[in-house]
Amino acid sequence: MSKNIAGFSRKTKEEKIEWLITTYFGGNKDAKQTLVSYWNSDDKLQQLHDEFIENTVSNFYLPLGVAPNFIINEKEYTIPMVIEESSVIAAAAKAAKYWGARGGFRATVLGQEKIGQVHFMYTGAPEKLFSFFNSIEAQFHQDSASITKNMNARGGGISSLTLVDKTLELDNYYQIHVCFNTIDSMGANFINSCLEQFAKTLVREAAIHADLKGEEPIEIVMSILSNYVPNCLVRAEVRCTIDDLEPEEGLTKREFAEKFVRAVEIARIEPHRAVTHNKGIMNGIDAVVLATGNDFRAVEAGIHAYASRSGQYRSLSTATITEDEFCFALEIPLAVGTVGGLTNLHPLVKWSMQLLGNPKASELMELIAVAGLAQNFGALRSLVTSGIQKGHMKMHLLNILNQLNADTTQKEAAVEHFKTTPVSFSAVTEFLKATNA
Ligand code: MEV
Repeated sequence: MSKNIAGFSRKTKEEKIEWLITTYFGGNKDAKQTLVSYWNSDDKLQQLHDEFIENTVSNFYLPLGVAPNFIINEKEYTIPMVIEESSVIAAAAKAAKYWGARGGFRATVLGQEKIGQVHFMYTGAPEKLFSFFNSIEAQFHQDSASITKNMNARGGGISSLTLVDKTLELDNYYQIHVCFNTIDSMGANFINSCLEQFAKTLVREAAIHADLKGEEPIEIVMSILSNYVPNCLVRAEVRCTIDDLEPEEGLTKREFAEKFVRAVEIARIEPHRAVTHNKGIMNGIDAVVLATGNDFRAVEAGIHAYASRSGQYRSLSTATITEDEFCFALEIPLAVGTVGGLTNLHPLVKWSMQLLGNPKASELMELIAVAGLAQNFGALRSLVTSGIQKGHMKMHLLNILNQLNADTTQKEAAVEHFKTTPVSFSAVTEFLKATNA
């Protein structure tokens, strides 16, 4: 039987579920109940979630946790993190405490420039296009005035419009490269609305402009913001003297610092390691980006492009020892907002923002970069000392115990037992069987 369906989007939520359960789950009532059990009992709240996307059938929960004791630019924070992976929040909290005792984290926004482009084709003489473009610059601003009015009033808006000749890479291809300041919003809607207006202005003016008479009409290919924002940049760092580092098992403080720096160097020159190294950084970044209702796909795409800016994928963080000082830093592009989008709609996003003291976008950039650096510090500290599995296995054990429906007494006994025995699914199953017997 074909599983093709026409008009699915027009069906009610109940009809959609009935179709799914009949078509894919053999009418199994439990499959329906699984979806229903994740609906919110508050109808209004459920409707809010239903309307975030299309064809909603249920909610997909992720845990929201918090990492306390962060000191960032001398201010105390408890950071909200949404993540499914165990050990991430524990590592963040541990790194917060570690660096809290050493003056805390420093973070600085180095720029907040956002970018958008109108991509178009033009077959005529380039100099005619450039002279035409320069002559209509004021028109771009005038035509987009109703879109930019509020943003201008908030101190943002369009910072520059540049015509770029890309014909050496692709025949007849040009672009209008536009820089924006979107203040506290991520700005995607604002940017895209401006760009679509610029495209219309470009085509309309080209059709009547004397310089372009007799040329083939300009063909707009697309108008869209760029998620690569290398000038929307934030830096986070920690530093202390080697003597101030914590003693690590089996290593002197200097040996630890040197091994740590070597681990970061390896991630700078070796892409296989760099990807995992940066994945650890993204554990912290994505978790805060999600908790604050921002677009983690945009952030991921932009950050990984930045990691490749030299032509090779490299570590996002750097570590140095200068005389007696250890310094560990992270620099990343981050286009995030604290107004608009989900920030005004999702109750848990509002809650997270309040927990952070309702920061401006620049402050949120700093907090997110710090969460990434903290995560990277925690991972590298484990990797170059005891190894990563020691901490991971503790949480892994709890996950296995939950999967096997262990009760509190069994969990306590298992945690004690597996302090000295390797954790595996079969070992935990055996242990529970033996303790039940
Ligand atoms: C696991 O989620 C992240 C790590 O692999 C990061 C790293 O290796 O640096 C531990």
